[in-house]
Parts: sequence; structure tokens; C-alpha cells
Amino acid sequence: MFDPYSPEFLEDPYPVYTRLRLESPVFHDPAWELTFFTRHADVSAILRDREHFGRDFRHRLDPAEVDEGLYRRIYPPQWPSWSRYIRESFIDLEPPRHTRLRRLVSQAFTRRSSEVFRPRLEKAADQILDRVLEEGKLEVIEDFATPIPVAMIAELMGIPSDDHAQLLRWSHAIVKVFDKNVTPVEGDAAEQATIDFVAYLKGVIDERRRRRGEDLISSMLEVEDRGDTLSDEEIVGTSILTLNAGHEATVHAIGNGLLALAGNRDQYQRLRGGEMRLQPAVDELLRFDSPLQMFERWVLADTELSGTRLEKGSKVGLLFGSANRDPDIFGPDAERLDLGRDPNPHVSFGAGLHYCVGAPLAMVELEAALGRFSARVADLEVRDVSGRIQSLVFRGLQHLEMEIAAA
Ligand code: HEM
Repeated sequence: MFDPYSPEFLEDPYPVYTRLRLESPVFHDPAWELTFFTRHADVSAILRDREHFGRDFRHRLDPAEVDEGLYRRIYPPQWPSWSRYIRESFIDLEPPRHTRLRRLVSQAFTRRSSEVFRPRLEKAADQILDRVLEEGKLEVIEDFATPIPVAMIAELMGIPSDDHAQLLRWSHAIVKVFDKNVTPVEGDAAEQATIDFVAYLKGVIDERRRRRGEDLISSMLEVEDRGDTLSDEEIVGTSILTLNAGHEATVHAIGNGLLALAGNRDQYQRLRGGEMRLQPAVDELLRFDSPLQMFERWVLADTELSGTRLEKGSKVGLLFGSANRDPDIFGPDAERLDLGRDPNPHVSFGAGLHYCVGAPLAMVELEAALGRFSARVADLEVRDVSGRIQSLVFRGLQHLEMEIAAA
């Protein structure tokens, strides 16, 4: 009944989510070894409940208390470098380790306001549009959705443009292991990508130590909180996390957003006509087809939620894509794209302790990309859509070709 790798589900999971919310809003899936939650109220409660749920269990439970099979799926021992860097990055930690790292890293993040990036990102979008508008067609994913976030992250990290393509290859390889259907070959490639990326970043850190720049790595070398600083290992872990978290989600947010606009051209015209503000429009596109669809939590203590018993040491899966379409929160038109939707309490950036630290940056990127696109493109039509990402975690396309008309 829940087959997230079936072509129909990958194409459009939302009818399945509607049915699940009605018929079995909480269900256990033996193949995933997860109890899935589909309703906004449950997803949002779990994200905020630190007593019973966590991205990590080590602060509360002994390894012997958690399901060993699950642990090996999440941190596969055959890919030790990958497992180590993912497990030690602060998205996979809980307080007090999370608090310490997030505080130090947030300091480095906020040294320069996200707004600093806006003019540069708009320029990058304009340069691409100058080129493609002459031809009247655009391959959205490779030519528009990918270069903007890459430029942004590389700039944030102070990495030379010659290395951008390499960063992208590492990032793509590393995130493959987040999905259950990862193959041994993909896992080996992720392990090698981690090893190479770590070596590369250690080189960048040595260089920045000699000559500081304006970038996040330089800031991470400098931040200090009551005598506490970040170690090189922590800087490497945070850099890998930033690249993966910051890059993949933004690419797919742009791709999914433009696909949704092409399917709702009346809404697109309202955005172009200035009837809609950019920020609520971006929030709505993130709600409507979130690039990140599923996150997991460990159960830290026996508990019960929505009539379902959850055992300590097991895991739950939170279906963000479903929570974002829940009519109990978004009303009877939850399935409709409404760029003016207000309020819009979507969970696409998460909630609670792990709420996306890059959300302000992501919003600037998306506003720059979609803002320049809608200013310059009078109309858009999909020519070809293919290559759905085979994942329950990431939702996106590999190929989206559009015909576009200059404004
Ligand atoms: C549209 C783009 C993005 C989306 C949809 C997104 C979504 C998310 C979500 C849902 C979480 C929480 C995961 C959980 O609760 O388990 C998260 C965490 C995080 N995100 Fe983002 N993100 C985006 C862009 C970015 C960017 C641009 C950066 C960095 C430059 C970034 C860095 C992070 C980090 C470091 C965390 C971990 C925070 C913590 O554990 O305290 N994200 N993101």
C-alpha cells in the first residue's frame, strides 16, 4: 500500500498521502522499520517534543537499547567515513552537543546577513536568463536550478569556481546513502566522496588559517563562545553538512517551484503582475511540493501518540509532504497552489530544535531565482519532464525542459 519507489508514487505522492491521512494516518512499515506519521499535528508535535524524540539517541539511550538493524541502516558500518561524518554533524546530534555546535555555527552564519548575497544571486540568474531567453527554451535543472545554489554555497564557503563541479559531484554521491534503496556501488562512491571531500576541506582550512577571508570557513575558525572554539573536525563536518543540506534542497526547490508554476499559469501571471509578494509565493511553493519529504526521529522513551504505542529505541518517519497538504491546517483547498496563502505554517524547513539554520539564506536564493525568472519570463510551458529522483527523502527532477517567452 505504501510503495514510495513505485513510478506512480514518485510522479505524484499526494493522492496517496490524502488517502493515508484519512484511512491510516499513522502506520508501521516493516520494510522501512519505521512508524510513519502523515498528519500535520503529529509531525509538528514530534518535531517539538524533545522528551520522547530525537535525531540522535546517544544522549539518552545505551546503544544496546536501540534496534541494531535500524542503526546499521542509518549509519552503515561498511561506509565508516560517511557514517562518522554524518553522525557527528550537528543535524544528527542532540543537546548538549547540538546546542554548542549550533550556537557556534549560527554565529559564523550570521556574521554576514543573508541579504549580502541577494544582488549577486540576482545577477547570476539574470546572466543565465540573458542567454536562454534568446533561444526560447531552458533546461531548468542543469542550467538554472543548479548553478544558482552552487554559486551561493561556494561563495559562502569561499571555494574557487574551478572546484564547483567537483563539490557538486561529492554532494550528489554523499546524499545517496540517505535513502533506503542505496546500492553497494552508490554507498562505496559515497564513502570515497566523503574521504576526498574531507581531504579537500582540510586543505581549505589550512589555507584559511594562513589567510583569512570573508567566508564561512574563516568565520568558523574565528568564532568563540566563552573560550570554546570549533575543532578542525567540527569545521569539516559542518562544511559537509552545509554543502549537502544547502545545495540539494535548494536545487529541487527551484525545479519543483517552476514545475508547479508551469502547471498553474494563472498563479504565475498573478505573481508577474505584482499581485503576489515574492516571499509568501516562495513559502507556498515550498509547501506545495517540498524538496525534502521525509525526516526520521528516534523514540527516546516509550510513549503513545494518536493512539499508537511507540517503543523506546525504535524510529518514526515524518512525512512532511503529507503534513503540508493536511486540510485540518490548510483548509479544504490544501491541494491547491495559492501563492497568496496566509497563514502558511508549512513544515518544509522543519520545526523545533533542528529548524533549518539556512532558512534565511534559502529564502534569499529562492526569491532571487524565482523573482528574476518571473520578471523576465512572460510565459512558460513544460516541454519535457523526466528522471524523478528515486527517493522518499528528496523530491525533485533530473530533467525539466521548458519553452519560455521573454517579457
Ligand atoms: C529550500 C531549501 C532548504 C530546505 C527545504 C531545508 C530544509 C531543512 C529541514 C527540514 C531541516 C530540519 C531537518 C530535521 O528536522 O530533521 C533543515 C536543517 C538544516 N538545514 Fe536546511 N533546508 C534548506 C536550505 C538550507 C541551506 C541553504 C542551508 C545552509 C546554507 C541549510 C542548512 C541546514 C542545517 C545546517 C540544518 C541542521 C540544523 C540543526 O540540526 O540544528 N539548509 N533544513
